[in-house]
Amino acid sequence: MAGKIPERFIDELLNRVDIVDLVGERLQLKRAGGNYQALCPFHNEKTPSFTVSQTKQFYHCFGCGAHGSAIRFLMEYERMDFREAVSQLARRSGLEIPKAAHAVNVEQYDRLYQVLGRAAELYQRWLYEHPSRARATRYLEARGLNAEIATRYGLGFAPPGWEHLARSMPEREELLAVGLLIQKAGKQTYDRFRDRIMFPIRDRRGRTIGFGGRALGDGNPKYLNSPDSPVFHKGQELYGLDKVLELDRRPAAIVVVEGYMDVVALAQYGLPRVVATLGTATSTVQVERLFRSTRDLIFCFDGDAAGRKAAWRALVSTLPTLREGRQVRFLFLPEGEDPDSFVRAKGQEATAAALHDARPLSDFLLERLAVGIDMSTIDGRARFVEEALPLLRRLPADVFRRMLIDRLALLAKLEPGYIEACADAGDKPGPKAGAAPRRGKTPMVRRTPVRLALALLLHRPSLAKLVDDVESLCDPAIPGLPLLVQLLELTSGKPHISSAALLEHYRGSAHEAALWKLVTWDHMVPDLGIEAEFRGALARIHALRHTKRLQYLNERLQRGELTTAEWREWVQLKQRS
Ligand code: UTP
Ligand code: MN
Repeated sequence: MAGKIPERFIDELLNRVDIVDLVGERLQLKRAGGNYQALCPFHNEKTPSFTVSQTKQFYHCFGCGAHGSAIRFLMEYERMDFREAVSQLARRSGLEIPKAAHAVNVEQYDRLYQVLGRAAELYQRWLYEHPSRARATRYLEARGLNAEIATRYGLGFAPPGWEHLARSMPEREELLAVGLLIQKAGKQTYDRFRDRIMFPIRDRRGRTIGFGGRALGDGNPKYLNSPDSPVFHKGQELYGLDKVLELDRRPAAIVVVEGYMDVVALAQYGLPRVVATLGTATSTVQVERLFRSTRDLIFCFDGDAAGRKAAWRALVSTLPTLREGRQVRFLFLPEGEDPDSFVRAKGQEATAAALHDARPLSDFLLERLAVGIDMSTIDGRARFVEEALPLLRRLPADVFRRMLIDRLALLAKLEPGYIEACADAGDKPGPKAGAAPRRGKTPMVRRTPVRLALALLLHRPSLAKLVDDVESLCDPAIPGLPLLVQLLELTSGKPHISSAALLEHYRGSAHEAALWKLVTWDHMVPDLGIEAEFRGALARIHALRHTKRLQYLNERLQRGELTTAEWREWVQLKQRS
């Protein structure tokens, strides 16, 4: 990873760029009131629901929910990564990214990408030209792969022998860095991939970042993958995602399978919106990444025990990403089948139908929890709930969590409120080591004073100047308050910061999604009297703190635990209430 770009620089950058210009260069923008409108580039629509706000410096689509700053827009629209988007904006506004940010400089990265790209070309050429290519082409034929699909996915061949790459490419250092060459004890190097079918792994933009190599026949291991490198992180990338996005920037659904061969076979049978994890369990990062491009994920696993286990791991990784409008489903193939063999045996239509009928995550979850449990006994139902609690705690507080709690309650014959309380109770950061990490827990339904204050502040960052006693707000006992304090601190030094720039500070954090919901919660923000509204919210927060503190002191009083200082505080609070 290159060094982190300082947040101060990002603030300054977003200060100089006008998102209206940036978007306007790419889309037909029309003025509509204080905002601009266009047809959304991220989903299909006939009437414009994509808006760009000049004051807040962000875009938001009321149709598909896409939203973000100028940086995010470039990332999504031009399929850039964060650093590239920042570089482009910096160039355009005549700023230079601070030197310290380039721990590994960009040129060095570029050289790695170039070397990987050239290696991919070589492997591909060897599939058609190398003297020992016959073994490879025969293998592909035997597996039923046609030339068109092999070309589309850039499949190649690493011939048997130790130094094909080393002899064909002079960039020894770079080849070592990306793991295509391995260094022996001395100075000697040899090719990592030998006598294998090569699957180039590409990032979202189609740059080769690593390889998977399938042994011809029974070689061991069956699949060999590039090791992680500065440009390749197995747990984060997805094989085939570039092809999916090339076809369709916002596919209605993306299918996730386990194997390279599965992706390629499904594509050959007319099911091209498929990606594979890279020989690792599905990670939350991967799921988040997929949800940036689609709202419906279908995991397709083998029906055997290993497949079920992998599916369960995927389910657990998925939980933190679930929120309204996102859907995760599971399809289990019959025992002994994988997607590759299934589509070849049953054909496109039957496979598409099976995918269409994939079952919702909640079905799989509840069914799996109930395995081996006698739900007719109280004991059994208690165990059932107990096992569900850690999963519930991974879920953001959203519609899905409530729905799941309702269903659990029904099955366990308990009050939903009781289950919710249990889940929340375990959610408190406690002294217990190894407790589940606290997730972004921000119910967006009720309009609490803290949420209102957050929304107003995001809407108009300059409101921060109205708060002179930030410290008195530091009360972690009230949900969301630490976040409000953090935002106030961020804003206080820069009253002119835009909403988008403010939110850019939360990119990738647990609060990101919740904050975006608040900032686009436009209808609740009054245009007139916004200051009074903000003051009102603050007053109610103080009242809430007051009540909570008094409650706490009362409890201690009853247990006879009050210290002298607390006693004085209790008297004061009593007098004021
Ligand atoms: P599978 O063993 O299910 O392979 O591994 P497959 O896709 O069905 O392959 P074929 O049909 O036998 O050719 C699924 C995935 O697990 C990883 C690879 O990413 C593979 O695509 N894997 C498997 C490895 O990394 N190493 C291995 O030795 C085996
Ligand atoms: Mn297979």
